[in-house]
Amino acid sequence: MALERTFCIIKPDAVEKKKAGAILAFLEEAGFSILAAKRTHLTRAVAEGFYAVHSARPFFGELVEFMTRSPVFVVALEREDAVAHYRKVMGATDPAKAEANTIRKLYGGSVGENAVHGSDSLDNAKIEIAYFFPGNEVAPVAG
Ligand code: PPS
Repeated sequence: MALERTFCIIKPDAVEKKKAGAILAFLEEAGFSILAAKRTHLTRAVAEGFYAVHSARPFFGELVEFMTRSPVFVVALEREDAVAHYRKVMGATDPAKAEANTIRKLYGGSVGENAVHGSDSLDNAKIEIAYFFPGNEVAPVAG
């Protein structure tokens, strides 16, 4: 199976609880390579742009408020079957409904403050990686 890339954000709640390192270690244990990672404090414009697809949803304001509250880590990941595998180890949006030993079950607090974001498709992973790593930090896929 070919190597694939996906995109992760370690959200403000997890960074505030000093769980960023634990989450990166969890991802490496799960077979992911960390291609690029940086700490950044999202501006309102960057958060609104990233979550534009959710702009009509009732929780949009709350989501942007939360994501701009304090710094996050944006992370590009690589592994075989990365998008599907990361969604599995990330767990359900609502930590209360997430399976045991998933990131959201271990580190999430609520449906709004759920520790991590993960791309939902390979196409979106490419868009999301390029949104936060527009330079040459993440080399193009070979071939
Ligand atoms: S998905 O993948 O679109 O089906 O996920 P979804 O469950 O619809 O949620 C999309 C993102 O919105 C966040 N979310 C919320 N934030 C604040 N309040 C409430 N009630 C809420 N419900 C969902 C959720 O954490 C998702 O964020 P990301 O960063 O994509 O994980």
